[in-house]
Amino acid sequence: MSFVEIRDLVESDLNKVMEIENLCFVAPWKLEDIQRELNGNQFATLLVATINNEVVGYIDYWITFDSATICQIAVHPNYQRQAIGSKLLEEVLKDCYAKKVLTITLEVRESNSKGINFYTKHGFNQFLVKLNYYSNGENAIYMMRGVK
Ligand SMILES: CC(C)(COP(=O)(O)OP(=O)(O)OC[C@H]1O[C@@H](n2cnc3c(N)ncnc32)[C@H](O)[C@@H]1OP(=O)(O)O)[C@@H](O)C(=O)NCCC(=O)NCCS
Repeated sequence: MSFVEIRDLVESDLNKVMEIENLCFVAPWKLEDIQRELNGNQFATLLVATINNEVVGYIDYWITFDSATICQIAVHPNYQRQAIGSKLLEEVLKDCYAKKVLTITLEVRESNSKGINFYTKHGFNQFLVKLNYYSNGENAIYMMRGVK
């Protein structure tokens, strides 16, 4: 497989990130949502995965004291199942470990079996169900893992 680089997301990545966002989610974030994360949220870290300088995936996570939350992760459909999502998540785990974070949580749509498999493979456990969590009434699975 081609070499995957992980680096901080910068403003000039946003067009490509929005393209991936729109391909990957039923209710995608708007450009201003991601811009707010990038420029207006002191707790957020945004990373991209690139292959030959092309953005193929990204992750947005928050660290607040000893807890972290995965807010968004997506890999371009043409590049899925090539361990790029795993590489992004491993980078988050390294950062969390270095910052002495104890737990990482996230919400994922109940219908998103691909996402649930992905997180389960990475050691997340299904902790509880948040009823009617999404705007279309869908439930969220709340998942958690420790940082080791
Ligand atoms: C979830 C997502 C980020 C995973 O990224 P990825 O780069 O394709 O994942 P990886 O190749 O690192 O896969 C790691 C593991 O996740 C699971 N997985 C990934 N894609 C899967 C699929 N299509 N079906 C079942 N399991 C899958 C598998 O356990 C896989 O390990 P394996 O390949 O050894 O079997 C990607 O599928 C995606 O962008 N989905 C759309 C957006 C989304 O749902 N985000 C998560 C909710 S916020």
